[in-house]
Amino acid sequence: MRLIIFIAISMCMISCSNKYQETVNSEEDYPIIPKPTKLTITKGAFLVNPKTPIICDSSLTQEGRYMAKIIGSVSSISINNDTTVTTPGAIHLLLDPTITNTEGYKLSISNDNIRIDGKTNAGIFYGIQSLRQLLPVAIENPKSKITELIIPAVEIVDSPRYTYRGMHLDVGRHFFPVASVKKYIDLIAMHKMNTFHWHLTEDQGWRIEIKKYPKLTEVGGFREGTAIGLAGSRNAPYTYDNIRYGGFYTQEEIKEVVAYAKARHITIIPEIELPGHSLAALAAYPQFGNTGGPYEVAKRWGVFTEIYAPTEETFGFLEDILTEVMELFPSKYIHIGGDEVLKKEWEESAYAQELIKREGLKDEHGLQSYFIRRIEKFVNSKGRNIIGWDEILEGGLAPNATVMSWRGVKGGIAAAKLHHHVIMTPGTHCYFDYYQVGEEGQKNEPITGSKRFTTVEKVYSYEPTPAELPPKESKYILGAQGNVWTEYMPTWDRVEYKVLPRMTALSEVVWSSKENRNWEDFHMRLQHIAKRYDLLGHNYAAYSINKK
Ligand code: ACM
Repeated sequence: MRLIIFIAISMCMISCSNKYQETVNSEEDYPIIPKPTKLTITKGAFLVNPKTPIICDSSLTQEGRYMAKIIGSVSSISINNDTTVTTPGAIHLLLDPTITNTEGYKLSISNDNIRIDGKTNAGIFYGIQSLRQLLPVAIENPKSKITELIIPAVEIVDSPRYTYRGMHLDVGRHFFPVASVKKYIDLIAMHKMNTFHWHLTEDQGWRIEIKKYPKLTEVGGFREGTAIGLAGSRNAPYTYDNIRYGGFYTQEEIKEVVAYAKARHITIIPEIELPGHSLAALAAYPQFGNTGGPYEVAKRWGVFTEIYAPTEETFGFLEDILTEVMELFPSKYIHIGGDEVLKKEWEESAYAQELIKREGLKDEHGLQSYFIRRIEKFVNSKGRNIIGWDEILEGGLAPNATVMSWRGVKGGIAAAKLHHHVIMTPGTHCYFDYYQVGEEGQKNEPITGSKRFTTVEKVYSYEPTPAELPPKESKYILGAQGNVWTEYMPTWDRVEYKVLPRMTALSEVVWSSKENRNWEDFHMRLQHIAKRYDLLGHNYAAYSINKK
């Protein structure tokens, strides 16, 4: 059975002869980001008209509908028994098991038809994203009156370089509603990235409803004020706005977002921070801290001494939370944080010191390792794996852990040498909260905690696989991710401004082959995608695109 989706676009009906069939195309007609593996320019063009059907197998209905939505409003959907794959004048979506890469696809556009072959539905989806970038930018605005849709002929064979292509978002420091998170997911999809790392818990706010512990969101989801300006940074004094701030996602909302991402072939990895960055949770349930409290949801930024106590009760509490989290998120990976854990409370805790002795641990780093291993064992028992920030290497790595290298690349290299999987997110290239201009230009920018900066060109230059790793170890580098810490991003507009166009540069780093990356060429294509940002209503750092 074949599903035919008719596309209604306010444009002229196609005439029998295609007046563009002799058109000579050039490189500039294909401004696709990320750059495809192999693109062969051919002569001619395909014309879309209101009767152009999208023909696909019923297993590709979701992708067919997505394609139809991109091209224009759908006038009718019907099941057709036509099994001919070469119907002239049609857009065909087809699964092709002979394609080797699970996310690979082929896109063929001729005068007669368009054909997208994918190894899997994901491959088809990426083929659609490439096709999208060959359409006039006006299609990004549903209100545009498109009178002509001419798609240049081409043969593309494409697949990603890395299996992990991620973007992170901290919703703890500032909270963003579901509608914004969906916009983020759409951006991730447009860039053929496949992972959204959702940083859901922080000292400044707990953002995920946990049924067994309602106070996590009732108490931990809100703070009684927020540090103003650069408070705490660069020795600025702490001042607060004293305005209650917060929010959280209900489990129903989480399910909705997970489904939205899944339809776009994006896995969401939830992060539940432990044993540090846990002040909001401790404000709600002080019995799981080392001192008994009282605690307050943090109103300022930074790293706090308050961390979880390594007691059986705490492990029970965390396991209950993780159980609910794993029911909501089907991802293979669960991120358990592990970064920036100050050990002072454990040094001063009789219980923690006794535990170190009883378990024969070397010191507080050994205790952190014990803590993570306990959590890993539980997560593994549910058939999942943990990811932790690179501090989880200290005191000994948990047996099956994947390491997210953020303090440069040292942690990633060390983990790969130990034959653990690695995701690269070094601050130098992958922290999109940094300024994107040098100090001179920063005067005109919204404030940011530090003066460090990463230009779009620097992001583009990033090479996730460290040169010092031989192939038998470099294969542990799964990919890279852009991190977005939101202390200084109180609005969604600000998030987009920080992320765009740097995530666009990163998307090519993680998808395209090293040989296919060329800054000048990318910069030309960036001008095109920026027009899409405009029509999609995204905010972005225009100067990062316009200047050479
Ligand atoms: C981090 O930036 N603290 C992972």
